Amino acid sequence: MKTLRDLGDVEDRRVLVRVDFNVPLQGGRVVDDTRIRASLETVEALRSRGARLVLASHLGRPVDREAELSMRPVADRLAELSGADVTLAPGVVGDDVRAFSENLGRGDVLVLENVRFEPGETKNDPGLAARLAELGDAYVNDAFGTAHRAHASTVGVAVHMPRRAAGLLLEREVRVLTDLLTDPARPLVAVLGGAKVQDKINVIARFQERAQAVLLGGAMAFPFLAARGHEVGASKCEAKDVKLARGLLERQGLAALQLPRDLVVADRLAADAPAQVVDGADVPAGMVGLDIGPRTAAAYSAEIARAATVFWNGPMGAFELEPFAAGTRAIAEAVAAAPGTTVAGGGDSIAALARYGLANRLTHVSTGGGAALELLEGHRLPGLEALG
Ligand code: 3PG
Repeated sequence: MKTLRDLGDVEDRRVLVRVDFNVPLQGGRVVDDTRIRASLETVEALRSRGARLVLASHLGRPVDREAELSMRPVADRLAELSGADVTLAPGVVGDDVRAFSENLGRGDVLVLENVRFEPGETKNDPGLAARLAELGDAYVNDAFGTAHRAHASTVGVAVHMPRRAAGLLLEREVRVLTDLLTDPARPLVAVLGGAKVQDKINVIARFQERAQAVLLGGAMAFPFLAARGHEVGASKCEAKDVKLARGLLERQGLAALQLPRDLVVADRLAADAPAQVVDGADVPAGMVGLDIGPRTAAAYSAEIARAATVFWNGPMGAFELEPFAAGTRAIAEAVAAAPGTTVAGGGDSIAALARYGLANRLTHVSTGGGAALELLEGHRLPGLEALG
């Protein structure tokens, strides 16, 4: 993978940088700027080399150029964080946008409008890719979170730009996540949770082959418990998920999948529902399992403390509601306190770390949700391949 070090002299050159500034907004303001901060290092590295920057990102999934998905708040936040002279372009491509790019001074930044305002973006339209390429003399992709999408600004544009490279964030994400599976310090412990087995099945299988312990939690644990013959009460548990879970449980000679040994249950998913700890992994009839119990949290935390490398993806329960947050909080605290290399990925685990003020205690918090999972599953990411 070519990196910023291979890009050569960019003094006074326009560098088109694909970033993933797909950040949450509320009332026209950025409410979580983690992804903007994560690419600041690349922005600063290029500015300090005298480049003129054109930044491209998508924001949400617009269908009709919705005004509330304009990049305006993102450009404003970037200006505050970087101290650069940041201008928002009047569109994504076209003569006027190109004129803006040509008038940039050294170290100045032009933020293009939401690239998904152009219908050709998600279709990887060659015409759009060619027009994007007119906006830079070199191309840098720092959008790890979008590297699993073969879109015009992540893939199509790259063939037009012989001078192309990965940004510092993309480079670090790929190195850390690849090392997890190829060269981790051992013992490697994976903590995997979240809602759906289907979303995680391949990642669970990969860690089962490589880790010394795989600790499962979240709603996704119930098909595994059902496959072991436990009662799951009214917890969501479809037959096809139980079949997938059984398939993993029956694999021989690999790390044993650890399942919750106690649970927090309630009659419904609501903040005022009376929560009750059940010792054992059977959910009483009519109840829903909504968190791992304290004994499981303590056992998982002890495994995490012994690990040389920890990977965490997915909450242990419905942590957005206080009665069901203790398990996820315990895991977040254990991962943050672990002495080895600690890596987290996935929107919900990151939200949990942020909520408990622990995000900066980890070795690496990935900015990629789907992209991180696909990389860990062993898939090639189109955005990376395009950098050639
Ligand atoms: C993400 O938030 O996961 C990335 O920005 C990709 O967004 P998408 O799922 O809308 O392609």
